[in-house]
Amino acid sequence: MKNKSLISINDYTKEDYFKILDLADDFQKNPNQKLLENHIVASLFFEPSTRTRLSFETAVQRLGGKVIGFSEASNTSVSKGESLKDTILTVNKYADLIVMRHPIEGSARFASEVSDVPIINAGDGSNQHPTQCLLDLYSIRKTQGTLENLNLFLVGDLKYGRTVHSLMTAMSEFNPVFNFVSPPSLRMPQEYKDYLDEKGIKYHEYDDLNDNINNADIIYVTRVQRERFSDPMEYEKVKNAYILKNDMLDNTKPTMRIMHPLPRVNEIDTDVDANPKAYYFEQAENGVYTRMAIMALILGLK
Ligand code: CP
Repeated sequence: MKNKSLISINDYTKEDYFKILDLADDFQKNPNQKLLENHIVASLFFEPSTRTRLSFETAVQRLGGKVIGFSEASNTSVSKGESLKDTILTVNKYADLIVMRHPIEGSARFASEVSDVPIINAGDGSNQHPTQCLLDLYSIRKTQGTLENLNLFLVGDLKYGRTVHSLMTAMSEFNPVFNFVSPPSLRMPQEYKDYLDEKGIKYHEYDDLNDNINNADIIYVTRVQRERFSDPMEYEKVKNAYILKNDMLDNTKPTMRIMHPLPRVNEIDTDVDANPKAYYFEQAENGVYTRMAIMALILGLK
């Protein structure tokens, strides 16, 4: 992992996941370890973010490092026409590590090919969000005690949702059963289903949330992502497709947990927030410890 960019969850092995999850556990117990003193992390967000950017910045500060960067490209020389390549070739002279979110699929891989310092992909279009995936694995292991043999419901925008693409790929190492719940127009892309077929992993597809959720270990809900639709009418047709309500949880397993990468629009009713099965804000907190672990390992400090 040392000095290697993290672009896709496929860049890491199952053993790498465990190394990160165990170290994240250690950071959760003891968060103020000054391992990043004398290190600078660049946080380049070409697309909006609350959790990913702020949890990375919190993680750097907890580790005693310093952050430079921007939260919107309009304040940078990109607005004067500077290319991504030139931006990266400049910033890699200032920082030891670059965390980057960008709307274009493949942009993080491209950045890693031109950069002298490691790149961490904080989301590239609809493609991948590997650090979200690792904090999701951390959250699943923490709540279920294992990653093996779980019954997982992935709900919502499975077509454009980069978080579910990364999570499905990683969890397929642990013999799950997947249940994909989405409107027909937002199904899990065929390439991901082919991947499961090749690995012999079972999956079911549903149009609606139904009584099958009573057997769920995890219900992972995602937002329908307005910003990914080229036709606003298509978004209007599906934007209210799923709303998880408190009374739908009455017969679910006591150990079941509801996750969501956030932000939420209306797909989980706010009444659910007080239900002990709601885990999405703890999940967001777990992002700090997981990102501390990822940075410490990439920078060779652990
Ligand atoms: N989960 C996630 O990526 O949230 P943000 O868009 O707020 O970073």
